[in-house]
Amino acid sequence: MKRIGVLTSGGDNPGLNPCIRAVVRDGIALGMNVMGIRRGYAGLIDGEISEMDARSVGGIINHGGTILGTARCPEFFERSGRTEAIRTLNRFGIEGLVVIGGNGSLTGASHLHEMGFPVVGVPGTIDNDISGTNISIGVDTALNTILDAIDKIKDTATSHNRAFLIETMGRHCGYLALKSGIAGGAELVLIPEIETTFDEIAHTIETAYIKGKPHCIIVVAEGWKPGMEALAQQLAEHKDLGFSVRITRLGYVQRGGAASAFDRVLATRLGAAAVEALAGGDYGQMVGWARDEIVLTPLKDAIAFEKEISPDLWRLARVMEQ
Ligand code: F6P
Repeated sequence: MKRIGVLTSGGDNPGLNPCIRAVVRDGIALGMNVMGIRRGYAGLIDGEISEMDARSVGGIINHGGTILGTARCPEFFERSGRTEAIRTLNRFGIEGLVVIGGNGSLTGASHLHEMGFPVVGVPGTIDNDISGTNISIGVDTALNTILDAIDKIKDTATSHNRAFLIETMGRHCGYLALKSGIAGGAELVLIPEIETTFDEIAHTIETAYIKGKPHCIIVVAEGWKPGMEALAQQLAEHKDLGFSVRITRLGYVQRGGAASAFDRVLATRLGAAAVEALAGGDYGQMVGWARDEIVLTPLKDAIAFEKEISPDLWRLARVMEQ
């Protein structure tokens, strides 16, 4: 395989540039040309492709975002869009493709594989909802961003004796909320995977107040229903909880920032492993990290089901909420 392409697709994360850097430099080390594809599958279909060299990826390891840009690409979910993409790959003489992204992006990669095009996926999403890997690139950095915010909010919550609802990202997955809730010492974590009633939440806030706690921190995954704002509205109607309630939506700050050391090394390992997998003929696989080593999972299995929340971690969070 003499010429490969690399693209970043879907929601971005802080580990993308370290990963792109590893793909380019490992490919060059193996004697390959590496073509950068801009704006994910949308740019692939439009032929926004140019050759990259070692200098193209100099000075980016400590920058969030993606130098290639990314996009969500609905037309790629149609076979016609994927056919157009393969025509473009052939036109540029690209023989294999590294796709870095979340579930939707890796589903597109799996379709390309089924259409006979050599592709390897790298799990990249702050949600950490991709099975086949213990952790995706960008997650560790996002967790530390959230934890910094929780610590800062705790300061003002304590000063004013308030309860705070803090919403993290995680469209369908409570991983970020659960891990950051444990790390941040939250009184309660609300995640889509586990039902928590309004009465349980109100009881937690009231109990914290009666125990003499100076604040009550509740971390809410954006996928938890009925959602942070609806909960705040309901709580506002309960004047007898002791604490007044405020809300903070962390939003897109969780997707930016310089990657943590862990994420830089993980992204470098997975990016290089993806190139080695292409070179070794291991097409249609996703590279992942498990049991302290690189593992390969067929893309069709990696996208078949979303990773579940650890029951032990959930139990630990409840114990620590005393
Ligand atoms: O998939 C990662 C993610 O950050 C989700 O947690 C979030 O709900 C979604 O992307 C936001 O998507 P967009 O960037 O398209 O608004």
